[in-house]
Amino acid sequence: MEGKVILHLSYTLDTIADAAKEFWQALKGNSVFAFSGEMGAGKTTFIHYLCDHLQVQDAVSSPTFALINEYHYISDSQKEQVIYHLDWYRLRDTAEAINAGMEDCIIQANAGKAICFIEWPEKAMELLPSQYLWIGIETITPTERAMTVKMANTLP
Ligand SMILES: Nc1ncnc2c1ncn2[C@@H]1O[C@H](COP(=O)(O)OP(=O)(O)OP(=O)(O)O)[C@@H](O)[C@H]1O
Ligand SMILES: [Mg+2]
Repeated sequence: MEGKVILHLSYTLDTIADAAKEFWQALKGNSVFAFSGEMGAGKTTFIHYLCDHLQVQDAVSSPTFALINEYHYISDSQKEQVIYHLDWYRLRDTAEAINAGMEDCIIQANAGKAICFIEWPEKAMELLPSQYLWIGIETITPTERAMTVKMANTLP
């Protein structure tokens, strides 16, 4: 994925809560977060800790069946914010993603009305907006992960 590297983090489950805090301090204000990494890389796990950091009021889980989970939290400016946690793994292509309501979530995020955390963004790259964050997670050892965050820009 092309783009400027803006953050690099390495963490284990012992330090993931601090990593999530650092991630949010560096990247809050962005609205579309595309989490890329092989099965078991820890996309859902990291999103879970991010949501814990944001004190999300709803139960956070892998959106395996619904494909879209909706969470809420109170922002620094005391506004209720919506998070869409999207899992595109079971989608075949962009058309299926649109039918499943994914484009609406992206449109809301682009309008500043929601935040999207997307797992398996590769399945429907065309739906990603002109600017978003690409978060690559790599398994270093069974307990260690390396995360690289890039500002992706699909505009020419
Ligand atoms: N440093 C770490 N960060 C995240 N997960 C870790 C770490 N060390 C071990 N794990 C384990 O790795 C697994 C990651 O699973 P998780 O469901 O988060 O992956 P995923 O990327 O969402 O996979 P999928 O593509 O199936 O959705 C969990 O069992 C978690 O406990
Ligand atoms: Mg997952």
